[in-house]
Amino acid sequence: MTSLDSVWQPFTLGGIELAHRLALAPMTRNRANPDGTPGELAAEYYSQRASLGLVITEGTQPSADGQGYLNTPGIYAPEHVAGWAKVADAVHQQGGHLFIQLMHVGRISHPDNTPHHRQPVAPSAISAEQEMFTAEGPKKTPVPRELSAAEIQDVIGEFRHAAASAIAAGADGVEIHAANGYLLHQFLAPNANQRSDEYGGSVENRARFVIEVAKAVAEEIGADRTGIRISPAFPLGGLDEGDTEAVRAQYRYLVGELAKLNLVYLHVHHLGDYELLSSFREVWPTAVLVVRYGRERDGIAADIDAGLADIAPLGRFALANPDIVERLRTDAPLNDLDPATLYTGGAHGYTDYPTLTDA
Ligand SMILES: Cc1cc2nc3c(=O)[nH]c(=O)nc-3n(C[C@H](O)[C@H](O)[C@H](O)COP(=O)(O)O)c2cc1C
Repeated sequence: MTSLDSVWQPFTLGGIELAHRLALAPMTRNRANPDGTPGELAAEYYSQRASLGLVITEGTQPSADGQGYLNTPGIYAPEHVAGWAKVADAVHQQGGHLFIQLMHVGRISHPDNTPHHRQPVAPSAISAEQEMFTAEGPKKTPVPRELSAAEIQDVIGEFRHAAASAIAAGADGVEIHAANGYLLHQFLAPNANQRSDEYGGSVENRARFVIEVAKAVAEEIGADRTGIRISPAFPLGGLDEGDTEAVRAQYRYLVGELAKLNLVYLHVHHLGDYELLSSFREVWPTAVLVVRYGRERDGIAADIDAGLADIAPLGRFALANPDIVERLRTDAPLNDLDPATLYTGGAHGYTDYPTLTDA
């Protein structure tokens, strides 16, 4: 088994001292209350995983338009702030640090799932052609409405407000979700962004919205509390970012511009283009987090060992093993993930995965 030695080295992330190089990757769990407040068990779920040090939450909508899935939490209303404050307190009590992921889904939505039941918004009026789970079963994502230039400014304002709300709730920072086929990623992808104004058409124009969101959030809460996640070439949500060279051109420019903002971290959902990942490392001035879907247990330290990453966030291993840090440290066996309970309500498959001590 490959050594995990490098994972156990401490790391300073902005103003936060981390004891090791693991973190909790953001994972949607669809257990929020109907008003968008985190569910009753959210504080327990996240505090159970606080030994991961950096706890990045599930995608959390900055506005009603930003919601796509059933029962996901928000961070824009006063009651959301009060709900997240309980989560932040619980995580802090266990020695962890909380970053709330700000996720605006754009066209990956359905009016059945949002509080205002409106048509989803996007860079262009192009359907993602995806199946969306609603209370009445799966339905097709509708054709979204194209945001006007003025509305783009409003959405940037929503991100600003959501970031301020996260800090008001006691979070240590936010992660801007510019990955996985959602609104910010839609702006980057030529097949979802066919705008003819300053937000579409060229590499620079397609990156503009992401950069403006990042600038606004960093200005609002501080760059040392602002992280961002990207997923170059990830075809989720019907996105097509073109061939390898097109993807490299888009993301080298984007990351080069974001690098100037001194954000606290760049979180890369890495699909395998090591040349691109290395180029990020060369220009990025702070921490780089790298996830790779389905990374095996003995591959967790690989990107850190290769000098490409500082932190290796864990998704499903941490979902199924609240004490994943202890288990990896002691070379203990892991619980299996139960895929059937990923997105269902309640404690089962959420807060009832046993620790080594329970077992
Ligand atoms: C149940 C589930 C929900 C997820 N939700 C999100 C999300 O809200 N935001 C996000 O950026 N990634 C999300 N992801 C992706 C994870 O953050 C992570 O990148 C992915 O699971 C790969 O890591 P792993 O192989 O360690 O699980 C989700 C993954 C899973 C399994």
